Amino acid sequence: MEFPLGQGMLVAHTAAMTGPRFIQLHREDSAALREELAQGLSADPASVSPKFLYDALGSRLFDAITELPEYYPTRVERAIFDRHAATMVAIAGRGRTLIDLGAGNCEKAARLFDVLAPLRYVAVDISVDYLRESLASLQRQYPSVEMVGVGADFSTSLTLPPEVGRGERLVFYPGSSIGNFTPHEALRFLSQVRAAGGGGGALLIGVDLVKPKPMLELAYDDPLKVTAAFNLNLLRRLNALLDCDARIEDFAHVALFNEAESRIEMHLQARRALTLHWAGGERALAAGERIHTENSYKYTIEGFDRLLREAGFSRTTHWTDERQWFAVFLATA
Ligand SMILES: C[S@@+](CC[C@H](N)C(=O)[O-])C[C@H]1O[C@@H](n2cnc3c(N)ncnc32)[C@H](O)[C@@H]1O
Repeated sequence: MEFPLGQGMLVAHTAAMTGPRFIQLHREDSAALREELAQGLSADPASVSPKFLYDALGSRLFDAITELPEYYPTRVERAIFDRHAATMVAIAGRGRTLIDLGAGNCEKAARLFDVLAPLRYVAVDISVDYLRESLASLQRQYPSVEMVGVGADFSTSLTLPPEVGRGERLVFYPGSSIGNFTPHEALRFLSQVRAAGGGGGALLIGVDLVKPKPMLELAYDDPLKVTAAFNLNLLRRLNALLDCDARIEDFAHVALFNEAESRIEMHLQARRALTLHWAGGERALAAGERIHTENSYKYTIEGFDRLLREAGFSRTTHWTDERQWFAVFLATA
């Protein structure tokens, strides 16, 4: 089976004889990024894709969020892996190529290395500088595991480079990042993941479950305001990428659970009437008007199982914690 290259965008870089290889699949096309940002800001309501939350600082702020007592997903998901990893591996098989989507600091995959004994570890992320650092440090800890870093934006399509190799694949997508897609987009993405896994491929995925509104809202609006800083960092990115004149002090972080859509929404809310300017455009915001920056959909076990099957995974198994706050699914085609 062939795995296509990303439209001639491949720039390979061998870091060092012993270090991880790094492949940059998406070129930072600043004109396209500016167009995407300008379109989102000009829409009604204004919105910016959550992928812009992650630059080197955004990735560090996300790591800090995972340390917060209010942010249960990381802790609960880790406990599920710790408790059930052996059973998961008995089903998925050892010695596969482990493909970590949105790898971030690569910690969750690394905790599974001993049981999974991956043939190769492929870490994919849009936050390229942070991924390079994380992977280089992981390679020093595990010098015998072959590692490949892939800088890619998989928000519209998932493309893997040939360096992933032809061994059996286990795709790892933890942290409930699937919740950033609408259910419709999630179905398309999961279908692409199934195709990228190839024949005999498996998917190990973490999914946050529906729970009471106050608990969800606290997890995304902590009293220390780390999540607020994570969200507000997006304004720095707007200024850098779009030459925009957003002032951080003019915006407030808002996180709310939209029960009808079963999703946490993050917004940046204007504290006063203001106008954002950038080269070629502007957007007036009334006091209290918002820029929508992230969705985090919450699923039921049945609902997510159905989505996996619709995406073409015929066999699924799942594990949860005692309180059913979070679930990990293992799905095979
Ligand atoms: C919620 S964090 C999860 C990090 C880590 N996997 C975990 O579970 O703790 C989402 C990760 O996906 C990456 N990411 C977000 N949007 C992306 C995109 N469009 N393409 C590739 N990576 C993306 C971010 O940089 C970040 O590392």
